[in-house]
Amino acid sequence: EKGGYDYFMLKEIAEQPKAVADTLLGRVDDAGRLSLDELRIPPEEVREVDKVVIVACGTAFHAGMIAKYAVEHWTRVPCEVELASEFRYRDPILGPRALVIAVSQSGETMDTLMALRHAREQGSKVLAICNTNGATIPRESDAVLYTHAGPEVAVASTKAFLTQLVACYLVALYLGQVRGTRSSDDIREQVRELSRSADGVERVLSTMEPVRELARSLASHDTVLFLGRHVGYPVALEGALKLKELAYMHAEGFAAGELKHGPIALIEEGVPVVVVVPSPRGGSVLHDKIVSNIQEIRARGARTVVVAEEGDEAVVPYADHLIRVPVTPPLLQPLVATVPLQVFACELATARGNEVDQPRNLAKSVTVE
Ligand code: F6R
Repeated sequence: EKGGYDYFMLKEIAEQPKAVADTLLGRVDDAGRLSLDELRIPPEEVREVDKVVIVACGTAFHAGMIAKYAVEHWTRVPCEVELASEFRYRDPILGPRALVIAVSQSGETMDTLMALRHAREQGSKVLAICNTNGATIPRESDAVLYTHAGPEVAVASTKAFLTQLVACYLVALYLGQVRGTRSSDDIREQVRELSRSADGVERVLSTMEPVRELARSLASHDTVLFLGRHVGYPVALEGALKLKELAYMHAEGFAAGELKHGPIALIEEGVPVVVVVPSPRGGSVLHDKIVSNIQEIRARGARTVVVAEEGDEAVVPYADHLIRVPVTPPLLQPLVATVPLQVFACELATARGNEVDQPRNLAKSVTVE
């Protein structure tokens, strides 16, 4: 049932193009209107939403962090993202005009469930983004958008994450549509770009041999650091989480802009640093800043592993290892940039002799607080 792969995780990584495409299937009509029919919140209420609050744990939380960039950019509605385990213990400001989005692959995560119950008690509407039909979280929510990743067996989340991103982008576009901040042309174009990213993931998957080789060469290291900016920041966090849980290595993700505020002190000779580079297109100021960061850490001895868009030549002189990802709109880059980090973690875990599908101390769904 592993379909010829050694591990479920490898199979699930390989299934990502299909998972993304399936989650997009039938969401937009010829007129460029999104019809998220499972989303049973009346448009009048969606128009009234004055705040979006995303609650989730672990990898799903990283999807939520990325969603914040899309929601605020596309809809101009303020969006908060919070770890579900922190949410209800701090008396969050909610009410009927807050739309709470609970993101959960399993739909059974206790912290996320308790957060959504708290939100509903405060009169907020809750939308679940979930991969498991009929699970507790979607059952207790006002609305649900199912991701169509298919069953995810490996404990470490891969294809569910990519489909959570797709679902979050769709909800953000839907909010933009209902509130009139996005034209139907724009929505159609964004959905087209989302579909193209499924091909992008396929392309990334076909170029992973050097990443595996690199991972094997790092098997005896203790630490790997990850840097990113904008939507690349949560991607860095996700890369680090994957490495912790699978390779049992000390891995940390940082916002690249924070380097000088502390983390740069960790840089020493030979420490591998994976840097997720934003697109250089449109003269992105963030791109230039991150290129300087790469120079700074390399000058201090870091071994740089650079994840950069095809055609980005500015990074080449400073990359000890270069991982190319296809060109995407800047907000969608996580769909392609996360994939090499999954492969990297999986291969490192294998090289270290770890159980890839069942990492120590972890369970697939965390049904206790
Ligand atoms: C990491 C991982 C976990 C889950 C988290 C939430 O690879 O799988 O961090 O993302 O436990 O689980 P769900 O999405 O089922 O609520």
